[in-house]
Order: sequence, then C-alpha cells, then structure tokens
Amino acid sequence: MSIISKDIKKAISLLSADKLVAIPTETVYGLAGNIYSKKAINLIFETKKRPFFNPLIVHIPSPDALKNIVSYVPEKAKLLADAFWPGSMTLVLKKQSTIPDLITAGKDTVAVRIPNHPVTLELLKQLPFPLAAPSANPFGSISPTKPEHVERYFKNNIEQVLDGGACTNGIESTIVGFENNEPIIYRLGALALEDIEAVVGKVTIKNKKEVSPDAPGMLERHYAPLTKTFLTDDVSEEIKKHRGKRIGILTFKKDLKNDSVTTQIILSKKGNLQEAASKLYESMHDLDHQNLDVIIAEKFPGFGLGKSINDRLKRATYSS
Ligand code: TXA
Ligand code: MG
Repeated sequence: MSIISKDIKKAISLLSADKLVAIPTETVYGLAGNIYSKKAINLIFETKKRPFFNPLIVHIPSPDALKNIVSYVPEKAKLLADAFWPGSMTLVLKKQSTIPDLITAGKDTVAVRIPNHPVTLELLKQLPFPLAAPSANPFGSISPTKPEHVERYFKNNIEQVLDGGACTNGIESTIVGFENNEPIIYRLGALALEDIEAVVGKVTIKNKKEVSPDAPGMLERHYAPLTKTFLTDDVSEEIKKHRGKRIGILTFKKDLKNDSVTTQIILSKKGNLQEAASKLYESMHDLDHQNLDVIIAEKFPGFGLGKSINDRLKRATYSS
C-alpha cells in the first residue's frame, strides 16, 4: 500500500507521537520531526544516514513564531524576512537556549524558514511545535521533488508522505547567515542572489566547504545521481568522448538531435530558468533510473537561478 496521503490529521498524530512524516514544501520534500523530541530528531539522522555534524533547518508557520527560535534578529535579516517569507530563504541566526544541540550540531546559531506551501503551512499552524526538516533523501543522493521520490527512498522507514504534489521551485532554499550583522550566502538556492541583493545590497557568497566550515552541509559532492555525470559548456564535444556508451543528456533549452544519444531531457524549451530549476532534480531522478553509462549536463548561464542550478550540477558531477 502507498504511504502517500493527503491526511493532515494523520500527519499531526504521527508527528505528535515522535514519528517522522515527509512534508511538501515549495523547494523540495522534507523529512520532518518535532524539534523538541530527541527521539524524532535522532530518527531523522538515522533514517537519512546523515552525520550528526550537519545541522537541520527549523520550519515555522509565521514570523511571530521566530522569537521562540532565535535570540537576535539583525536589521537586514528583518528586511529579508519581510520581503521573502513565506518562501525559499533560510536565515541562520543566534539561537534561543531552548533549541536542542542536536538540531544545530552544537552551534550557537540555528537555521530557520517559513516554507511557502499551503499544505505544510496548515500543518505547522495546527501543530504545537515547529518541525525540523532536512531534504527527504538519503544523505548524498538527489533531493525529492515529488511524493513518489520520497516513497521510493523511504517506504520501509516512514508511515506517511504528506501529499502536496510536485514542488514548484524544485531546488533547496537559499541559506543566508550573518557576520557582524551583514548577510552572507552559505548556500545558493531557489531564491536568486539578485533578488536578495535588491533588498539588502551586495552580499558575500561563502558557498564552498573550504571557505565555509560554518555551513557543514555543503559537501563538494552531493545531490549526486548514481550514474557518472559530467558538466560541460560544450555538450556535443563531451558526447564524442563517450562514443559507444549509453548516454543521457540534460540541456537548458537546446535540442541536440544527436544519434549517439540514448535519452535527452530539455529542462526549458522556452529558456525559462525558473521552469528549469523546478524540473532539475526530477530529470536527474529520471536519467538515473534509465540504466545509462553516463549523464552529460550542460552548464547554465551564470546569473539568477542559473547560478544556483550550476552549483547543484557541479556537486552532482565529475567536471571535465
Ligand atoms: O529547501 C530547503 O531548505 C529544504 C526544505 C525541506 O526546507 N531543506 C533542506 O535541508 O535543504 P537540508 O538539511 O538538506 O540542508 C540544510 C542545510 C545544510 O547544508 C546545513 O549545513 C545548513 O542548512 N545549516 C543548518 N543549520 C545551520 C547553521 N546553524 N549554520 C550554518 N548552516 C546551517
Ligand atoms: Mg539536503
């Protein structure tokens, strides 16, 4: 029997009993548990096989709930919250002492966001506690953007995927931390850098593990398909290197019409970056299940969501 269901009451009773429920958000599906339940939080790490040094994001229903989570909100964080919540932006701020160390990996900061999905907003409003929710995939694999992806990963581990349909944004939230009250981007994501800069001015990006031990989740290889994947500016050239193999192609808007290619996915024929982002992980899931020898992905334009998409593709690939 499928574990996918729209039953919010069931989700409430599972979560209230220290169990996990996969929840829809506008970015990706999350594997959610009560932030104050040691049992539930341990179960999140165990189920995902996630190392304990990688902290979790707390999901709240409204700006009002923020005061229970964080102890200080810099002026520019207020501006960003007003502009983009509910939405695909996570703020990393000084935590309240009541936030368990297990959530923050012992750090004095906590990551928090208000997701923009009607089903999960309703769930959060009805629950007496916030939800910790990392993406609902085993550690290191592709994030889920449809309830079926979560079911495939975790049907033997959890009792419910709360059905909210396909995720509209399709890549994870943009994570913004603060140093000396100035915003720093720790993870590029579904909210474009330019949108953030339009509100608070120029921001620094510390998107790499080496420069940002502060964002311990940012491993070099992550979001990875099992099929060997290459990222390139010149797809036709890369195809030549893999002649005779079963090749899958992932392009932005180009139709390659190349005979040596087994499968081709074009992310947005219109060249719309938002549409491409929303289909990115689903397409990687698809290609990864077609018994290919290699996947060749085309580099995106380096602005707007293209920059965030390139970040994910880089982490998924062997660059050539
Ligand atoms: O869109 C999203 O953000 C999704 C949905 C479900 O909300 N969640 C998500 O969670 O992507 P996860 O666990 O896959 O990624 C959380 C990221 C990690 O890279 C982690 O290192 C970072 O947030 N993070 C969490 N707490 C942090 C903190 N206190 N300081 C710096 N980075 C933090
Ligand atoms: Mg993740």
